[in-house]
Amino acid sequence: MIEISDNVLDRLVDAKKVAVLTGAGISAESGIATFRGKDGIWTKLKPDELASMEAFLRNPARVLEWYEHRRTIIEQVQPNPAHIILAEMEKFYPDFSLSTQNIDGLHKKAGSTIVYELHGSILRNRCNECGRLIENIKLDELPRCDCGGLVRPDVVWFGEMLPIDILDMSYAAAQEADVYFSIGTSAAVYPAAYLPIEAKNNGAFVIEINLDTTTISNYVDVSYRGKAGEILPELWNAVKNKINAIN
Ligand code: OAD
Repeated sequence: MIEISDNVLDRLVDAKKVAVLTGAGISAESGIATFRGKDGIWTKLKPDELASMEAFLRNPARVLEWYEHRRTIIEQVQPNPAHIILAEMEKFYPDFSLSTQNIDGLHKKAGSTIVYELHGSILRNRCNECGRLIENIKLDELPRCDCGGLVRPDVVWFGEMLPIDILDMSYAAAQEADVYFSIGTSAAVYPAAYLPIEAKNNGAFVIEINLDTTTISNYVDVSYRGKAGEILPELWNAVKNKINAIN
């Protein structure tokens, strides 16, 4: 149980524009490993050996196999209550958008439609040369595009730019939001980590949901400690109860 102040409830009841940033923590309860902290992917594997252009050009087969392994896990898991509540919130608010650092596609699988995938999607591949999207790659030989370029996952690697149109839409949403959520992210990787700060600097009421304190915990308006799949349903139920009591 979390303590939800009247101020938080009023903000969420009155808000017209709500925007959200999610990170690996929101998918943890679906069974997908996070990156940092105990059992995090980057505590066992080195990002520069698997998630960079240098790594891909050095050993494309190894990088593609690692992404294929993760894709197989991701395709088998299901959205959890946190993903599902965010899809419900999208239907409720006149202006709602979700920016995610996750590449797992679980927000869309849960029913969210306005999803800005800042780090791309592991469910897609594209040509490393011409950028064409390519489906159904086979790994028995190195997959290549018609143009001859190597095929790679459509994700953002270390050292690469985020897709500028998606980043722009995420920033606009943060700047305009009445309420902004930062959920399940360590807020350690920029520029995504700056979105809640941008929201706060532009007048949004910022709510963080995370198991632990993060670099932005002291800066946000409210920071709830616990699992997103438990806190978000509890918070959203309280909002719905308040709305029902008003009507
Ligand atoms: P991290 O692994 O850095 O952080 C996950 C956060 O989720 C931590 O702050 C945890 O405390 C929190 N957490 C874990 N389980 C949770 C739960 N059930 N409910 C709520 N919070 C929970 O993941 P990100 O912040 O997403 O980038 O990492 C950002 C980027 O770093 C990733 O997109 C990836 C990575 O390197 C690229 O690959 C480009």
